Amino acid sequence: MTNKNNILLLPGDGVGPEVMTEAVKVIDLLNKKKLCDITYDYADIGSIALDNYGVPFPDDTAQKSKNADCILLGAVGTKKHENNENKFKPESGLLSLRKSLGLFINVRPVFLFNSLIDSSSLKPELVSGLDIIIIRELIGDLYFGEPRGFNLNQGKTGFNTMSYSSDEVSRIAKYAFELAKKRSNKVTSVDKANVLEASQVWRETVSVIHEQDYSAAELTHMFVDNAAMQLIKNPKQFDIILTGNMFGDILSDEASMLTGSIGMLPSASLSYESGVYEPIHGSAPDIAGKGEVNPIAMILSVAMMFEYSFNNVELSKMIKDSVENVLDAGILTKDIASDDNFVGTTAMGDAIIKEIQNNV
Ligand code: IPM
Ligand code: MG
Repeated sequence: MTNKNNILLLPGDGVGPEVMTEAVKVIDLLNKKKLCDITYDYADIGSIALDNYGVPFPDDTAQKSKNADCILLGAVGTKKHENNENKFKPESGLLSLRKSLGLFINVRPVFLFNSLIDSSSLKPELVSGLDIIIIRELIGDLYFGEPRGFNLNQGKTGFNTMSYSSDEVSRIAKYAFELAKKRSNKVTSVDKANVLEASQVWRETVSVIHEQDYSAAELTHMFVDNAAMQLIKNPKQFDIILTGNMFGDILSDEASMLTGSIGMLPSASLSYESGVYEPIHGSAPDIAGKGEVNPIAMILSVAMMFEYSFNNVELSKMIKDSVENVLDAGILTKDIASDDNFVGTTAMGDAIIKEIQNNV
């Protein structure tokens, strides 16, 4: 018997609904094959929620997300609402979702499918076999620090507060060290402790947690500017990168290009009770509605959901292997193709579905 699970789908904006359609096809197929028993409901977030409810994170969405076992999210953001005041920006819907569910852990795997080695911006030997996980703290730092705002006294000044408490750092550090045990037990903690107090607390706390409970792990501290350089110079030196919200946002976009396309990478935002799974690529308004977005990051987010929320590593691996087989067969979307020989969103989704069908 498979467990009954109830999930919430938040397609959101831009290319979000297009990639969500492909993810739903995967879930429908796995349900039909009785490999899982997932029921799903939909709700609005971001620009679409602003249009329909006047706010980016409506009560209805908040309620449904609390009741769901976990959530799949497409993307948020459109040009239409980009100049709204902060509270009414589409992105604030995503930040409210993260905060309201206490999703302090952001897991961003950075891995390269071998057949995409030539799509990477780096030389093949630097990236072949690349397999990094970025653990980004997700509900602290500059994103949520107070005070923040504008000061209009002498010209206009905008200000934000970077802050980390030892409690905030220790819970994310513990998660990273636990995960490291299942891999090569190597953690690089990234901060800017040569300048920032928040980073000094970060570094001290990570060191204490390491000494107390995880001294078998290999821990390296690195400044963020150096880490940005090392990711390009020699990315395979990293296994787990543990970092704060702001630095993690930047480094994960940088790292995604090592894998060929930002359209390839999934992510999980977790607490010990809940999870939101989403591609890291965002709403991509320039290609929205054209049927050309790569749905792989979204489909791999479904794979992460099975692994992290439903403890079904086997099904997760099967989805990932199916994606790999499709890529090996030379079926590619525009972002990862090296010539004019590429397929659209639906065709890519269908090819993966067909491959999954062959594998079950
Ligand atoms: C991400 C995104 C978000 C972030 C935006 C859309 C608010 O860039 O998930 O990385 O900055 O966290
Ligand atoms: Mg980002």
